[in-house]
Amino acid sequence: MTDNLRVVSDFSPDDEVMLAEVLRGLSLPNKNIPSLYFYDQRGSELFDAITELPEYYPTRTEIAILEQHGAEMAAALGPGVRLIELGSGSAVKTELLLANLDATAAYVPVEISLDHLRAAAARIAADFPDLEVLPVTADFTEPFDLPEPTRGKVRRNVAFFPGSTIGNFPRSMAADLLDATRREVGPGGAMLVGVDLEKDRATLERAYNDAAGVTAEFNLNLLVRLNRELGADFDVNGFRHEAVWDGAAGRIEMRLVSLRAQQVRIAGHPFRFEPGEVLVTEYSHKYSLAGFRALAEGAGFEVARVWTDPEQLFSVQLLVVPETAAPQSSGGGT
Ligand code: AVI
Repeated sequence: MTDNLRVVSDFSPDDEVMLAEVLRGLSLPNKNIPSLYFYDQRGSELFDAITELPEYYPTRTEIAILEQHGAEMAAALGPGVRLIELGSGSAVKTELLLANLDATAAYVPVEISLDHLRAAAARIAADFPDLEVLPVTADFTEPFDLPEPTRGKVRRNVAFFPGSTIGNFPRSMAADLLDATRREVGPGGAMLVGVDLEKDRATLERAYNDAAGVTAEFNLNLLVRLNRELGADFDVNGFRHEAVWDGAAGRIEMRLVSLRAQQVRIAGHPFRFEPGEVLVTEYSHKYSLAGFRALAEGAGFEVARVWTDPEQLFSVQLLVVPETAAPQSSGGGT
């Protein structure tokens, strides 16, 4: 470990929580499993492969926006930023931002997976030897303590949430997350968030139904994980991947469709699937610029800047908390 890197707190998600959430989701009339469980070792590798697919436009588009406008973003944020990355993952995009920021007070990657966190934090600490890196293992949807840098002075807290991961939260939960982030960064703080934009059905469905079948494997890997970690007995060949655009809800819905009547047991609990029955594994909400503005404002942010690509496929948005922000309750619809 380099000396500008110190892991601050330790938190590991519990197997029991995973079992309880999976059992609850499978007991509902419309079965679902939280998409956060995609990301075991294999799932994270498959997700990395998805980001390279020709059909999956979000990652390369967001990177192009960060490359093209990184200097403007850094100028808008100013010096002395404590950069808090929510769900830092492999933190590839962060480097583009850090390279432009002036006198960064600290980089605080927040990630639920300790292994991922360690690897990404160590890489950033090595690439930016003057930067204090203070990783926090935490569930960023819950309040967490911000570590204090020992060297630089913090002039502003800035949450960085790229990748349009905000789209994986139902809209009411996205509003709650924005509200929690506003509290975390405090008055005068900011959030730089990647937001995928609404577009035509064909482009969206292609992005989640790639020709090489990587997204299908990513989706089905969830069952492999449940078999391995929870002792479930899913027949992985008994389900097929499906991703459809629900225009009314403004989201891609990823599903596993049962190919026949079958029963699955998890920890002694039987679950019956009818032929064609759907298990929802992920929502990926897409926003209009006006729709996201309403969500952000409902959570007490002002939208200060929006950067997009020429085709308006994706956006990176700078949300700021007014210095004199009156405390707000979470807003936004579902
Ligand atoms: C992580 N998240 C923003 C991705 C998305 O596009 O919603 C997850 C993903 N699912 C299938 N492909 C990518």
